[in-house]
Amino acid sequence: MISDCCIAKIYMLYVLSTTFIVYGVEDTTDGHTQKPTQSRPVNVFIINGWKNEVANISVTSALKTLGEKYSGHLGNVWSVQINESDSTESLETICNAWSSAISKGGTTVPDLILDMTMADLGAEASSSFTAAMRVPTLSAQFGQEGDIHYWRDLDLDQKNYLIQVMSPNDLVPEVIRQLAIQINITNAGILYDKKDFVMIHKYKNLLLNVPTRHIINDLQNTVDNVKEQLSKLRDLDVVNYFLLGDEDSTNKLLNAGNSLSFTGRKYGWFILTLNEEMWPSCACENITILLLKPEMPTMSDENQAESVRAKFPKPLITSAFYYDLTLLGVSAMKSALDNGDWPLEPSHIDCNSYDETNTPTRDLDFLAKLMTVSKNMTPTYAGINWGKKNGEHHTDFKMIMYMINIEREKITLKEEGGDWQAGIEMPLQVTNEKIMNNTAVTSYRVIVVQHPPFVMYDNKTEKWEGFCIDLLNAICETMPFEYEIREVEDREYGSLKENGSWNGMMKELIDKRADIALSSLWVMAEREKVVDFTVPFYDLVGLSIMMQKTKTSTSLFKFLTVLENNVWFCILAAYFFTSFLMWLFDRWSPYSYQNNRDKYKDDDEKREFNLRECFWFCMTSLTPQGGGEAPKNLSGRLVAATWWLFGFIIIASYTANLAAFLTVSRLEIPIENLDDLSKQYKIQYAPIRNSPAYSYFQRMADIETRFYEIWKDMSLNDSLSDVERAKLAVWDYPVSDKYTKMFQAMKETGFPADIDEALRRIRQEDEYENNEFAFIEDASTIKYLVMTNCDLTQIGEEFSRKPYAIAVQQGSPLKDQFNNAILILLNKRRLEKLKDKWWKHNPIKKNCDLKNDQSDGISIYNIGGVFLVIFVGIIFACLTLAFEYWYYRHQAKVTELNQATPSKLKMTKTIKPIRFNLHPAPTHGFQTISQFRSRF
Ligand SMILES: *[C@@H]1O[C@H](CO)[C@@H](O)[C@H](O)[C@H]1NC(C)=O
Ligand SMILES: *[C@@H]1O[C@H](CO)[C@@H](O)[C@H](O)[C@H]1NC(C)=O
Ligand SMILES: *[C@@H]1O[C@H](CO)[C@@H](O)[C@H](O)[C@H]1NC(C)=O
Ligand SMILES: *[C@@H]1O[C@H](CO)[C@@H](O)[C@H](O)[C@H]1NC(C)=O
Ligand SMILES: *[C@@H]1O[C@H](CO)[C@@H](O)[C@H](O)[C@H]1NC(C)=O
Ligand SMILES: *[C@@H]1O[C@H](CO)[C@@H](O)[C@H](O)[C@H]1NC(C)=O
Repeated sequence: MISDCCIAKIYMLYVLSTTFIVYGVEDTTDGHTQKPTQSRPVNVFIINGWKNEVANISVTSALKTLGEKYSGHLGNVWSVQINESDSTESLETICNAWSSAISKGGTTVPDLILDMTMADLGAEASSSFTAAMRVPTLSAQFGQEGDIHYWRDLDLDQKNYLIQVMSPNDLVPEVIRQLAIQINITNAGILYDKKDFVMIHKYKNLLLNVPTRHIINDLQNTVDNVKEQLSKLRDLDVVNYFLLGDEDSTNKLLNAGNSLSFTGRKYGWFILTLNEEMWPSCACENITILLLKPEMPTMSDENQAESVRAKFPKPLITSAFYYDLTLLGVSAMKSALDNGDWPLEPSHIDCNSYDETNTPTRDLDFLAKLMTVSKNMTPTYAGINWGKKNGEHHTDFKMIMYMINIEREKITLKEEGGDWQAGIEMPLQVTNEKIMNNTAVTSYRVIVVQHPPFVMYDNKTEKWEGFCIDLLNAICETMPFEYEIREVEDREYGSLKENGSWNGMMKELIDKRADIALSSLWVMAEREKVVDFTVPFYDLVGLSIMMQKTKTSTSLFKFLTVLENNVWFCILAAYFFTSFLMWLFDRWSPYSYQNNRDKYKDDDEKREFNLRECFWFCMTSLTPQGGGEAPKNLSGRLVAATWWLFGFIIIASYTANLAAFLTVSRLEIPIENLDDLSKQYKIQYAPIRNSPAYSYFQRMADIETRFYEIWKDMSLNDSLSDVERAKLAVWDYPVSDKYTKMFQAMKETGFPADIDEALRRIRQEDEYENNEFAFIEDASTIKYLVMTNCDLTQIGEEFSRKPYAIAVQQGSPLKDQFNNAILILLNKRRLEKLKDKWWKHNPIKKNCDLKNDQSDGISIYNIGGVFLVIFVGIIFACLTLAFEYWYYRHQAKVTELNQATPSKLKMTKTIKPIRFNLHPAPTHGFQTISQFRSRF
């Protein structure tokens, strides 16, 4: 019995204890409060911005749904509209509404704040309010972690019930970051439609640590304004355009882009929209767009989808988000109230009584409630991805990427290219590599000035060529980019004008109409202030002087010109006179051979100085051969000696003069450098008007003038002591005025307008005859002209040498890239090869003959006459031989006929047979000849 009863009791106890335990378990999960017996509807305090109409409509719709479908959920509703761009006004509005909302107290006060503001000052006011009042808040404010200023340092209590969920329109811009990173976009113009997007909080961090130059701007209202906006972006070299917007703004932008012809490979178009049904349309010729839009969740049936579309304003994803968020917030609060986690009569303070310490501690894990409720709720469009803390909760949706091509206003290509799961730092999933090519190809605008052989335009092939173009191509190899070349309209390198403005290539760079100025562009101090120069790509090039080559008059009979003609005549006269005198003396002198034949009959040489011998003697005396036997008589010898003396002196002076003459003619270079030019007045000289050389001389002259002024001021300074003044007392101006004089001389000469005029002046053509001209120009131009013209020559050293470099816009990142590339090319000696190609091995280089080359020896053109003399001598000798032969035969016949005296003379032996089957020279005529000789 007892045992039974006891067993029953124990069992009862067990049951009781288990029940208790069960209750106890329940108790711990629900907190320490007892399961409440009663609950009440949730009172909601809604803060919204004026501009956020979508939220207004959605929230209104959600409240209606709550009222209709979830009876007992919704209690009092307060709705505050704030001016999002005014913080004090907003805070005041909120505080006033709040004060009146909590004034009745008890169960009528708000339990939950729904903060539907987006961003900006009003939103900040709102978040500062919710943080201070410590009311459970579900906020749809924009911003990643830390972006909501007043929610940055929440304590543990606040963290549980101040919850922010990122809305779709806050997340979508994040895809730009991923695109920029994955497609390597170097520049981005991000335009957004203010209706749907707020970017204020994104300015700083959207592309933080991404090497993308970007500009974020709101899209203008009209197509014309958008065009202007796009042109401005283009001027800043931004060629990838992103749009965050709806259908209207897309069309506006694309139409603007099309009318500016910002299409093709050099431009990138990216449209990001929240409207899942939108396809861009525009009156475009040919444009390729990368479109990203959210993916519509598959609805269970078409009716539901239709009703959703009907209920919500566009963009659907945003309005559905606000709708869901309202339902979620109210439901979660309702469950907290039901569970007793939230008191039926919460205590609140108002803005006036807030003193930073008196805020109540809520001890409510609102986040957990939200997460639980959202699990059981089917989202209208996109669910919510809950994270651990604010900045991590966000809408959970997917964006699909499409490649769109619009040709002649029709979409001709619609290709899916990948997707993006919305989130912070979520990478793109690219399925079609084509989208990687959608980014604008970097194409730099190169501005050039023609200057052979650096930059030249080939009319036939319609291509640019030259040293600089080759250099650019070589740089392209190390850092790939495309370029388009344009010649600057005014064909100027760019110089600073009096009014401080620039012209030429410099102006194009300053106005950002070009990226690269490429030519034989000098690095100059004043240019360096407005553009950036790369490292030099060429040697230092200065100014130089060019003149016509001195035409050394060549003459075959130069050796005759050594003595003047009258000297030659005098010598000739002296020769005849002396020869005649000698003959006369020999004839008359009693001591001569012919008058004393017996006396000298034993001598070896018996020379009879008849007239012929005299001429022969005098002639040969002048040559190194000597004259042979001299006359025997003293008077004749005196004549001979005098002649020898005369001959010796004449020959010596002739020889000396000939050598000097041939040398002097080769060394005749009047001008060797600038100093030589400045010291003479015969040769005119000038650079082209307004050329760099012109400004060089102008500046030098100006500087000299200024020095002179300073010197004058110094020496006329009355305040100097006598000693000091004595130190300055010199008669001469101690600084040179070379350039002043030169510039003055140039002014008087007149500056040529262009190279052609300068060349005509150098060549002394037309009206410039009889004026020698020296042209001063940059050395590479002169070098090129000398290379292509044989009659020109460069004179002297270059002066004012400066390097050539490529110019880029000030602050352009190209500078460093180009510097690297050029240094690499320098190291590889590529630039040297290029230089050889365009100078040494240039096909247009003229191979001038060396006729006038001054460094060589005596040329055949000067000495050739001597050979002519031999030639003429030989011809004369031959003629004489022929004559002799003819004369002999003729004479022989005559004697045969007349006398027939075949007397043989002793000379027979000495006469040799004539070769070549001619008759051997007969001997019998000799006497006749000697007779003839003596007769002569
Ligand atoms: C929507 O806007 C209207 C007019 O601005 C306002 O009266 C109403 O309270 C707003 N509704 C919500 C839910 O904010
Ligand atoms: C909102 O506040 C800004 C800044 O104070 C003010 O300029 C603007 O006029 C206000 N808007 C309205 C509709 O009052
Ligand atoms: C982007 O740059 C990275 C690193 O330079 C490179 O590996 C990648 O291939 C590039 N992507 C594209 C699409 O050019
Ligand atoms: C459109 O442009 C693409 C390249 O940008 C080209 O391949 C295509 O032929 C163009 N289509 C028309 C109709 O011009
Ligand atoms: C992208 O462009 C590059 C160079 O123009 C080309 O070689 C490549 O095939 C293109 N890729 C696709 C997928 O079109
Ligand atoms: C190119 O050729 C055309 C006609 O053949 C000529 O008018 C033009 O001046 C030439 N341009 C240059 C830069 O030589």
